[in-house]
Amino acid sequence: MSFIISPSILSADFANLERDIKAVEKAGAEWIHVDVMDGHFVPNLTIGAPVVRSLRKVTGLPLDCHLMIEAPEKFIKDFAEAGANYITIHIEATKDPVKLLKDIRELGCKAGITLRPATAVEKIIPFLGLVDLVLVMTVDPGFSGQKFMVEQVEKIKTIRAELKRIGSKALIEVDGGINAETVAMCKDADVLVAGNYIFKNDYATAIKTLKDAKR
Ligand code: DX5
Ligand code: ZN
Repeated sequence: MSFIISPSILSADFANLERDIKAVEKAGAEWIHVDVMDGHFVPNLTIGAPVVRSLRKVTGLPLDCHLMIEAPEKFIKDFAEAGANYITIHIEATKDPVKLLKDIRELGCKAGITLRPATAVEKIIPFLGLVDLVLVMTVDPGFSGQKFMVEQVEKIKTIRAELKRIGSKALIEVDGGINAETVAMCKDADVLVAGNYIFKNDYATAIKTLKDAKR
């Protein structure tokens, strides 16, 4: 099984999102990764639910929304109604992950959990039974084009072992600094997010290189 590839549109041309999404779709991408930042949880500001609503009209691919925002409970309904498929929340951003993850599923979306590189993997372990996706960050959330943090890779193994132990089929996704070299360290994952590596290269070649790294 090859990786599922989820290009991060943070590295696309924001004036031409439809064009860029259709191009990566044609080049073999299976999901679209949407990085939502609020300028508080992370020191950068990007896009919100209205943009997801517009993207929903131009692609049938699953919209994989990574919420790097404070008070995510205030916004999950907007994202669900806008057409998000996966809604991934940061463990650091909520006091009540159980309710938040349950609410995401009740809204008809797949629920994802993630953590900053500085956060111990043990913090998310108690909630793995409530999720469809576990996102391992291999850069500090906030910006594309950063260097892959090798020491984060261990988290993938711990999460995989725990998912197996509890009999969960949740997918493991890795996000940040993924390219033709660093992909070799992500073989235990299922889904790869890549921004710069895809959008700054020939899309089809980059996507194929990442996918084939799993075989
Ligand atoms: C970082 C975002 C990533 C980022 C990935 O906060 O979560 O999705 O856009 O970009 P690259 O692949 O360039 O590191
Ligand atoms: Zn992301």
